[in-house]
Amino acid sequence: MITLQHMLTLSAVLFSLSIAGIFLNRKNVILLCDSVACWMLGCDNLKSHISSKLGIDYGQTTADNQFTLIPVPCLGDCDKAPTMMVGDVTYRNLTPAKIDTILAECKARG
Ligand code: FES
Repeated sequence: MITLQHMLTLSAVLFSLSIAGIFLNRKNVILLCDSVACWMLGCDNLKSHISSKLGIDYGQTTADNQFTLIPVPCLGDCDKAPTMMVGDVTYRNLTPAKIDTILAECKARG
């Protein structure tokens, strides 16, 4: 059943994707969930890991235009938090090691 919360979440994600993907026209837009469940399970540490690895903060893009990092509200997968999206793929149960793999795969795809 689709609830109002799901629709609002979808709207927020689509808005973020529009802003990030269309207006900024970046290759790999990382949408890192920073809502409650993800926050409780360490999204701040993951954000620090991504920032350290890529040298960017929220709202910034790497010098090679490969990655943009944006915080987003709940992606609707709270039971598999922490989560993020890159393109149209949602990544769940994230750890720094998983993020390293994801970033390497994204970079290899270009
Ligand atoms: S709080 Fe992150 S997916 Fe719901």
